[in-house]
Amino acid sequence: MNAPTPPPPPPYAPPPVPPVVDLTAPAAPPVEPWAEVPHPPPVAPPIAPPVEPWADVPPVAPPPVAPTPAEPWAEVPPVPVVTPPAEAQVDDPTAPSLWAEPAAATEAPEERARVGGIRDDQLPGRLDVHQLSQWFNKRKVLERCSLSMEPGEVTALIGPSGCGKSTFLRALNRMHELVPGAELSGQVLLNGVDIYGVDMSPTEVRLRIGMVFQKPNPFPAMSIADNVLAGLGLSGSKTDDPEGLVEQCLRRAGLWAEVKDRLNESGMSLSGGQQQRLCIARSLAVHPDVLLMDEPCSALDPISTRVIEETIRELCHDITIVIVTHNMQQAQRVSDQCAFFLVETLGEPGRIVENGPTERMFDNPSDPRTLDYVNGRFG
Ligand SMILES: Nc1ncnc2c1ncn2[C@@H]1O[C@H](COP(=O)(O)OP(=O)(O)OP(=O)(O)O)[C@@H](O)[C@H]1O
Ligand SMILES: [Mg+2]
Repeated sequence: MNAPTPPPPPPYAPPPVPPVVDLTAPAAPPVEPWAEVPHPPPVAPPIAPPVEPWADVPPVAPPPVAPTPAEPWAEVPPVPVVTPPAEAQVDDPTAPSLWAEPAAATEAPEERARVGGIRDDQLPGRLDVHQLSQWFNKRKVLERCSLSMEPGEVTALIGPSGCGKSTFLRALNRMHELVPGAELSGQVLLNGVDIYGVDMSPTEVRLRIGMVFQKPNPFPAMSIADNVLAGLGLSGSKTDDPEGLVEQCLRRAGLWAEVKDRLNESGMSLSGGQQQRLCIARSLAVHPDVLLMDEPCSALDPISTRVIEETIRELCHDITIVIVTHNMQQAQRVSDQCAFFLVETLGEPGRIVENGPTERMFDNPSDPRTLDYVNGRFG
């Protein structure tokens, strides 16, 4: 007897394919309560190069707007694209926005200085940073950093590699405007005036807030004297006494005695430490209120390092100095105030863990991570 024929198998059907998830696509930013706060787009100012255009800033596309012909930097192509991020952070919606119209100036025009609304009698400069966040290509690298850098003091920014010290420093003179995909929120006030305000051009900001980079970068084709005066040419400033200015700046940078008999030699003929002091002298020539220094001694020998540190202590009487350093002894030697940056969890943005007088930060910090870092237990 034949067994009953089993029913034929159902036709083959492939298992359902789950929807493809693009794991490489950037996650949408979380909806934050302040997301709806309107942010007017920034008014694009005519863009000038930094006073030191040879900085290690990546090249960017030519400007869509023709620069003003009267400006000496008119032919320089880079254009910043700094726009407020979609999740721009405004905890207090009534707080002045980085992108907001600046308050009307109260001083008479003749009382106002050549730069923005900052008066010349307010030197050296005071920098107040409020809730500064920074993104690169939508990736947040700094989270709401607030810090005041007092007039006439040296503030050291310390922390492990990648925690955002250079990013913070560069935001203090609008350096990221030349970086595509860079966005920021928050405020940077120089003597109470928003450096990102519509009446402050990047060039004006960089005249007030100079920058010295990690690697000495004198103009190779220029003499020592011309290197000192180079910033004047780029900014359109003039001096009646170029020789006097060269001597003054080189003296203040602690280099005069070593180069006074060779001012016409190439800047490249100097040693690394001398080149770095030449770059400091070049920054001083435009009389900045603030000098930013990103690991200025990291490529130098101990003796050159000490000379630069002495120069910093001399300069800080009339220039506010902000220095990034990995050298804890240097931070203790040169700084009055210290701010400790940290990325708490990999992939998160850097934050300021704590800041305060350098002595307290090293001897009795309030956060145990600060103590561990300054004692070399990590980073
Ligand atoms: N131009 C840029 N484009 C994209 N990401 C950037 C850019 N500049 C900095 N970053 C990122 O921002 C973060 C902070 O970098 P930053 O250079 O500020 O760190 P740092 O604390 O100065 O580190 P280090 O001590 O090594 O110099 C890093 O994750 C870095 O990759
Ligand atoms: Mg750095």
